[in-house]
Amino acid sequence: MGYITNESVALITGGTRGIGLEAARGIGRLGATVVLIGQDSGRTERAVEQLVSEGIDAVGEVADVVDPQALSAAKDRLGPLGDPDVLVLSAGVMADRMTRTLRTSPEEWRRVMGVNLDGAFYSIATFAQGLARQRSGRVIGVSACLGRFTGPGTSGGLAPYRISKAGLNALLRNFAAEMQWGARGVLVDAMCPAHCRTDMGGPDAPRSATEGAATIVWLADRNGQTESGEPVATGLLWEDQEVIPW
Ligand SMILES: NC(=O)c1ccc[n+]([C@@H]2O[C@H](COP(=O)([O-])OP(=O)(O)OC[C@H]3O[C@@H](n4cnc5c(N)ncnc54)[C@H](OP(=O)(O)O)[C@@H]3O)[C@@H](O)[C@H]2O)c1
Repeated sequence: MGYITNESVALITGGTRGIGLEAARGIGRLGATVVLIGQDSGRTERAVEQLVSEGIDAVGEVADVVDPQALSAAKDRLGPLGDPDVLVLSAGVMADRMTRTLRTSPEEWRRVMGVNLDGAFYSIATFAQGLARQRSGRVIGVSACLGRFTGPGTSGGLAPYRISKAGLNALLRNFAAEMQWGARGVLVDAMCPAHCRTDMGGPDAPRSATEGAATIVWLADRNGQTESGEPVATGLLWEDQEVIPW
């Protein structure tokens, strides 16, 4: 048996489309109640209706992750569902195409850093207090290969996007250390979904959003200990259920 039970609550920012929606579907199928956060009310409503029609216990809340007060109000409206066991940070935006460092406007820098990095911090600050208190939880940040300091992360360009994801990686690793690398019952990890067919990834990407979300679902359902009782590895960057270099 994995970590997720019928009593679990998973909150997914950016859960209304793309990889976040597929993560919500996968975690919901394991029995959890899923809470979808999006900024567009129509899309949020439709995503919830779709999951409910599939037999998944789903609710939605509209909030812009750049606005901590909106997140806090959403948490209040959610009541006990605002203290999830699993927090998935999938809300994100891509940078404009021509955003090499010297060609990025301050507005574009702020827009992307706002959603991808500030939004992740505000979401953790709002929704991860309960799981830290109860000493049991999973926090999974949807990062990107473009945010790595190795491999595909080292090609330049798309400066606000790359730096926001590198910052997200740092945020998660720092939080994982504060959670004592799983010793306090909370596993904190970053993952790369690879290039997926979503509104962001475009129609020609090599993988489906479901494939991209599979490692999120796996991380959400991971037990804190191996079968032999060893603590599992956490505070890491994952792709296809394997650790990859930052
Ligand atoms: N697709 C890829 O190939 C790929 C590759 C590597 C990493 N990623 C990462 O994976 C994550 C999901 O990407 P995706 O391809 O699924 O993107 P997507 O299809 O464009 O969906 C983005 C999601 O984020 C939400 N969102 C955006 N800005 C928000 C805000 N300010 N407040 C609240 N919600 C917000 C959207 O909600 P609304 O519908 O309400 O706008 C939507 O649910 C992102 O973090 C992205 O950087 C994607």
